[in-house]
Amino acid sequence: MTTNHNPLLLSPSLLSADFADLRRDLDACAAGGADWLHVDVMDGHFVPNLTLGPFIVKQVKRLTRLPLDCHLMIERPDEFLEAFVDAGADRITVHVEAVRHLHRTVTRIRELGALPGVVLNPATPVVALEEIVAHVDLVLVMSVNPGFGGQAFIPQSVDKVRRVRELIERKNPGCRLSVDGGVSAANAAELVRAGADVLVSGNAVFSQDDLATAIRDLRAAAVGE
Ligand code: DX5
Ligand code: ZN
Repeated sequence: MTTNHNPLLLSPSLLSADFADLRRDLDACAAGGADWLHVDVMDGHFVPNLTLGPFIVKQVKRLTRLPLDCHLMIERPDEFLEAFVDAGADRITVHVEAVRHLHRTVTRIRELGALPGVVLNPATPVVALEEIVAHVDLVLVMSVNPGFGGQAFIPQSVDKVRRVRELIERKNPGCRLSVDGGVSAANAAELVRAGADVLVSGNAVFSQDDLATAIRDLRAAAVGE
């Protein structure tokens, strides 16, 4: 049995938002009770896609009061930490696969005034967190190979979430555990039972006509209402 004391947080992924009408989507996220906004930063090297940088984060920040949960899918993230914090990133999560001196990087994020997180690709084992989990506020488990929205959830991620939760309880119970990729009303409850306390969701919520209702429905499904 896993323990999970934190209230569930939802972090809609702006990767699936309508950037031509971003204000409308950001307002709908707030109206639907989103807790954070997940911002996917891709560089065309760490992942085979390009998205956005600090310039867009700054624009998003002007349009919302929700905390910005920035997921850096980039090589050499250290070179951009200050720019993202200056642009308004509240949380910065870096891939363990992309960083050579992870302790230095998470320390730097905290020094800059943001909350650090680390993220594991699907094929990266949980043991990669062992020495760093005590130093972060968030662990993100990828449940798809990063790079694109709308991919199918990898089922073995549920067991991985369970094992990450056990590690967090042992080493840093205040740390949040987030899941990203293919999260929907169909798997949300199972993920929460396994120990997730933050759900990132892009396609499943933004593909609905009524975004605010989709976010409320996801929360209801996740907590079993
Ligand atoms: C994938 C991104 C995810 C993505 C999730 O590389 O990190 O945040 O936007 O989108 P869905 O929920 O559509 O899988
Ligand atoms: Zn993401």
